[in-house]
Amino acid sequence: MFDRRTQLGLGTYSLTGESGTDTVAAALDVGYRHLDTARLYENEREIGEAIADSDVDRDNLFVATKVAHFEEPEKTESYVHRAVEQSFDRLGLDRIDLLYHHWPQSRDDIETVLPVLEGYVEDGVVDHLGVSNYTIADMEFARDLIDVSIDALQVEMHPLLQQDDLRAFLADADTQLVAYSPLAQGEVFDVDAISAVAKKHGVSEAVVSLAWLLSKDDVAAIPRTNSVDHLRDNFEALSVALDDEDIESIDAIERTHRCEDPDWMRW
Ligand SMILES: NC(=O)c1ccc[n+]([C@@H]2O[C@H](COP(=O)([O-])OP(=O)(O)OC[C@H]3O[C@@H](n4cnc5c(N)ncnc54)[C@H](OP(=O)(O)O)[C@@H]3O)[C@@H](O)[C@H]2O)c1
Repeated sequence: MFDRRTQLGLGTYSLTGESGTDTVAAALDVGYRHLDTARLYENEREIGEAIADSDVDRDNLFVATKVAHFEEPEKTESYVHRAVEQSFDRLGLDRIDLLYHHWPQSRDDIETVLPVLEGYVEDGVVDHLGVSNYTIADMEFARDLIDVSIDALQVEMHPLLQQDDLRAFLADADTQLVAYSPLAQGEVFDVDAISAVAKKHGVSEAVVSLAWLLSKDDVAAIPRTNSVDHLRDNFEALSVALDDEDIESIDAIERTHRCEDPDWMRW
């Protein structure tokens, strides 16, 4: 599903209002071709405006959004339908490349949401179905529930949360991992092993962390930034070549840090 053009996407949480649209427009100018939003981010309109104003051909863009987060009270089928229709409307698109179930709260929730999303894939208006914040057990449950393939699992992943078990599971499942919070929301700047590789290549810790993620099979990453300088910096991750020694030194980091961890979640 992802290729070199879309493997590095733009996370858009908190990119709202005019400055949000401007940042997304700047990202498209820099060369980003994968935009990651969600109903919950309340910025689908801003993303849609940036897409509409851009010279980038729709076919060269990969747009992902998400519905049904645990914070949303209602998870009936009709709610999910309404939410997806609103996403299409707000984005101003008649086709969405990747539609995720954002965060399951229970098995009942998965049973309600996934068949609705599957219907959009079967109707041909959504290209790929994805899930987010699913455990391995949730993935197994979901696969038995629907007929279309689950092409992406979006979870937190970065050098301080390497997701070895999940990646081993996904390798057999033909599902790509999309790494959210790929900079551990800034924590990667504070890790000696990452700083050493950054110094060696004359790049930032952000670039090293992203290049390390992109070196893994079937992993995409969606860093978020409000800064045009950081947009450019992060894009360098597609050019820097980490060698085996660099990758092994990051693989060996033993600190574990999870940014998104609600009390009730059992990872
Ligand atoms: N599915 C889910 O449940 C879920 C959960 C969390 C996140 N996400 C997605 O993942 C995206 C990214 O995750 P995130 O926003 O949690 O964290 P992140 O991308 O790991 O980190 C964002 C932070 O890093 C800073 N930053 C970015 N590039 C930098 C650079 N080159 N140099 C220095 N600082 C830099 C940003 O500040 P500046 O703005 O100053 O650059 C921001 O404070 C989100 O926007 C969202 O799309 C999904």
